[in-house]
Amino acid sequence: MADAQLKDRTGNKAESKVRFYGVHHLALNTDDMKMTADFYVNVLGMPLVHAMKVPPGLGTGPGNRGNPPFEEVRHYFFDMGRDGLLAFFEMPKGAKPRGDRNAIGAMQHVSFAVSPASQKRICARLEAAKVPYDGPMEILPGIFSIYLFDPNDIRLEFSCQPSNGEGEPEIVPQVTQTKDEALRELKTLTGDKAWLDGVTAGLRD
Ligand SMILES: [Fe+2]
Repeated sequence: MADAQLKDRTGNKAESKVRFYGVHHLALNTDDMKMTADFYVNVLGMPLVHAMKVPPGLGTGPGNRGNPPFEEVRHYFFDMGRDGLLAFFEMPKGAKPRGDRNAIGAMQHVSFAVSPASQKRICARLEAAKVPYDGPMEILPGIFSIYLFDPNDIRLEFSCQPSNGEGEPEIVPQVTQTKDEALRELKTLTGDKAWLDGVTAGLRD
């Protein structure tokens, strides 16, 4: 097999290729699980699939591996589609400050992929629940989004691709640039040609 065929889109050899299958779960914080479950299940229509408390010993003691530093906090999971979970931890009320979504290292927002019809249904559900939203607006070529805040003040986006009808969204193909298109921006980052060639090795000419 030709060497080029052994390379994946990162330019790495096939035998060292790492495969990513989307988001397994995204873990966010609330201080009111009832309010959060009510919003995700009853307003947005995202099913609850698992409700638990973090087992004792993982919060405050030496068993903490990065979990919230409180004992037996609620930890609920919702089905966000494509075999991915949206998870929430419930912090004790008043124990933590409200987050700054624009802080370095913070999550600015999360966008869920939806079909055009589902985006319309979400808008109707939001209107019925009197939850304000912006959009739909075209945020990338061919991709239209609405934006809103969940009751925890987490910024949410719902993106759809009308040209694909009601089929499964094709997210990466829709936004993948040619090498020259990406290089126009990347050259504002560095003039290092070897580095630029490396990071664009998987893009088409
Ligand atoms: Fe976004």
